Amino acid sequence: MSFDTSRTAEEPAASNPRPATAAADDGRIRVRDLLGPRDRHAELARDVREGLSRPHKEIPPKYFYDARGSDLFERITCLPEYYLTRAETEILERCAADIVADVSPHVLVEYGSGSSRKTRLLLDAMRRRRLLAGYAPVDVSEEALRAAAARLMAEYPELTVTLVIADFDAPVDLSFAGRPRLVAFLGSTIGNFVPETAGEFVKSIAAQLDDGDGFLVGFDLVKDVRELEAAYNDAAGITAQFNKNVLRVLNRELSADFDIESFRHLAFYDAERTRIEMHLASERDQVVVIGDLSMEVDFRAGESIRTELSHKFTREAAERVMACGGLRLHRWETDREERFALALAERG
Ligand SMILES: C[S@@+](CC[C@H](N)C(=O)[O-])C[C@H]1O[C@@H](n2cnc3c(N)ncnc32)[C@H](O)[C@@H]1O
Repeated sequence: MSFDTSRTAEEPAASNPRPATAAADDGRIRVRDLLGPRDRHAELARDVREGLSRPHKEIPPKYFYDARGSDLFERITCLPEYYLTRAETEILERCAADIVADVSPHVLVEYGSGSSRKTRLLLDAMRRRRLLAGYAPVDVSEEALRAAAARLMAEYPELTVTLVIADFDAPVDLSFAGRPRLVAFLGSTIGNFVPETAGEFVKSIAAQLDDGDGFLVGFDLVKDVRELEAAYNDAAGITAQFNKNVLRVLNRELSADFDIESFRHLAFYDAERTRIEMHLASERDQVVVIGDLSMEVDFRAGESIRTELSHKFTREAAERVMACGGLRLHRWETDREERFALALAERG
C-alpha cells in the first residue's frame, strides 16, 4: 500500500467537465476527483506491465470496474449462487437501526460503494433518527458513483453527496467529511486484499476515526467449498463475463489484442489460505501484444492470469485484521445461515 498525497480540491458537480448524470441536484452533489485521467492511464500501464511480467501473471481487481464491469457486478449480486449480497442485505435489514443507534452518525462514508444499493438501509436508519446529513461514496468507478448519486438525489432530498473518485489501494484523505461518521466497507471487498494489505488498509481507516466513529465491514465467512465455488462459477456465466471484462479494458485502454474468447474463466477455493482465486487461463499457446506498452506477453496453453482474490474469514480472523488498526469489535452480526458477517468496530 502506498501513500498518495496529491489531492484535487472539491468541486461542485456542475463545474465538472465530464457529463454529470445528476441533472438537477441543487448543488447537493460534490465531486472530489483524486484520480487525474493521465494518472489513471499511467497507473494501469504500470500495473499491467508489472503484473504480466511476473512468473505467475496477475492484474489487480480494480480494473474490472469500467461501466460494463460495474453493470456485470450488479448482475452478479442478483444471481442465485451469489449468496453474499442477499446475506448482507438480510443482516442490514435486521441490524441497520442498531448500528446507527450505536454510532449516531451524521455522515456515512462508504468505500467501494458501487451502486450504493444496500447503503439505503443505513441511510434510511439514519434518516429515521433525523441524523442524515452527508454521504461520501469512495470508488474507483466514476460511472458507478455518478449513477448511484443521481438515484440517491431523488430519494433523499435532505442529503448532500460527495463523490470521491479514488483508488483506496492508497489511503484516502477523509478530512473533508463531517463527524460523527460511520465508515462502511460492504460486499466483502476487504477480502480482495491479502491479509497484510488488509491490515494496512484498516490502519489507514482507523487513523481517520475519532472516538465515537464506527467502521462497518462486511466479511464473507469460511464455509463449505461447494457453496463457495458455486458463488464464483454461476451457471449463467455472468461471473465469467465479468472476469473477462478486464481483458476488454486492456484492449481498449492499452491498445492490447487479447483474443478474449481464447481465455477461460477459472475460480477455485484454496482451503489453506481460505480464499477464492479467480483466474483467466489461456486455451492455447499464444502471444498477446500490448500496444501502448510496446510489450509482447507469451502464454502457454493452460497458463493463467490471476485477476482476483476473495478471502474468507472467521470471527477471529476478522478481529485480527481490525486489531491491525487498534480497532475492536463492538458488534458481530451474521445472517441466519451464518454465511456472512457484518462487523462494527471502534477505536479500542
Ligand atoms: C465487490 S464490489 C462491491 C460493491 C458494493 N459495495 C456491494 O457490496 O455490492 C467492489 C467495489 O469496489 C470498487 N473498487 C474495487 N477496487 C477499488 C479500489 N482499489 N479503489 C476504489 N474502489 C475500488 C469497485 O469499483 C466496486 O464498486
